[in-house]
Amino acid sequence: MDIVTKEVDVSVPTKRIVNEATIHVNDGEFVGLLGPNGSGKSTLLKSIYRVMKRDSGEILIDDIPLDVMHLRESALKMAVVTQHNYYNFEFRVEDVVMMGRTPHKKAMETDNEEDREIVRNALKKVNMLEFADRAFSSLSGGEQQRIILARALAQQTPCLVLDEPTNHLDIEYQLEVLDIVKSLHCTALCAMHDLNLAAQYCDRLYVIKDGRIIMEGTPEKVITEDMIQEIYNVKAAVSRHPKTGLLNIAYYPTFLSKAYDDEPVDNVRKEEPISVPDIAVNHA
Ligand SMILES: Nc1ncnc2c1ncn2[C@@H]1O[C@H](COP(=O)(O)OP(=O)(O)OP(=O)(O)O)[C@@H](O)[C@H]1O
Ligand SMILES: [Mg+2]
Repeated sequence: MDIVTKEVDVSVPTKRIVNEATIHVNDGEFVGLLGPNGSGKSTLLKSIYRVMKRDSGEILIDDIPLDVMHLRESALKMAVVTQHNYYNFEFRVEDVVMMGRTPHKKAMETDNEEDREIVRNALKKVNMLEFADRAFSSLSGGEQQRIILARALAQQTPCLVLDEPTNHLDIEYQLEVLDIVKSLHCTALCAMHDLNLAAQYCDRLYVIKDGRIIMEGTPEKVITEDMIQEIYNVKAAVSRHPKTGLLNIAYYPTFLSKAYDDEPVDNVRKEEPISVPDIAVNHA
C-alpha cells in the first residue's frame, strides 16, 4: 500500500503553511520527514490523516484519492501515532487501545474476544500489558506514547503515519518503538527530529523547510554536514560508525563551535592529554 501527495497546499487564515508538497511512500517503505520546528511536518501529516483540509493538491492511498474514501475506509488503511493525545474522559488504557478496533466494527457492534486478544497482544508488544487497567491520564508521557502506538497496532492497518513517535521516550523505548514499526514491514511515514534515529531506521527521507519539500533521498544523501548547517543552523560531524556501519551524527555544542571553526576537530581533541604532562613537568 502506498501513500502519495501531489502538490499539496495547506493554509491557516493568516498564512500558507504547506506549499506544493509532493511526496511518495512506497509499499513497505519507512520514510522519515525531517525539518525544523514549525516547518510544516505535522501539518502535512494532518492533511494526510484527514484532520486538516488542504487548499489544493491530491492525496492518494494505493492510487485512490483520499477524498472519495469514507473515513472508516481510510482508518482501515492508515493508523496514526501523534505527538499529543488528550482525552476529555477518564479512559482506561485498555479502552484507549480498543479504540483502534473501531473501524473494524459495524455501528453498535460490541467488542468480542478476538478484539480483546488483539488489544492484549498490542499492549504486550509495547511492554504495557500490566498497565491495562490504569487510567490513561495517570500514565507518564512516555507510557502514554507507547499506548498510542498500541492503539495503532490494534488498528491493524497496512500504513502508519507517525508524528514524532519517540517524543517523551527514554533511549530504550525510542529504539523499541522504531524497532516495532520496522518489524511490521508496513508503509510508514514518520516525522522525526533525531537524525541518528532517522539514519538508522529510515529507508528514505524528505526534508521540509518553510512548508516546502526541499530535499529527498536516502539517509546518506540527505544527512550531510551542509544540510544540518543549512536546515538547523548547527555544526555537526557526519561519519560512518565503525561498528554499525550506519551514519553517525555528532553535533558541536554552540559554546565549542568557535573552537571547531578555528582548528580541525582532531587538534582540539588532542589538546587535553598533551597539556597534562606539560603542567606536571613545570611543577617538578
Ligand atoms: N491552526 C493554526 N493556526 C495558525 N498557525 C498554525 C496552525 N497550525 C499550524 N500553524 C503554524 O504552521 C507552522 C507549521 O506548523 P507544524 O505544526 O506543521 O510544524 P512542525 O514542523 O510539525 O513543527 P514541530 O517540529 O515543532 O512539531 C508553524 O509556524 C505553526 O505555528
Ligand atoms: Mg510537529
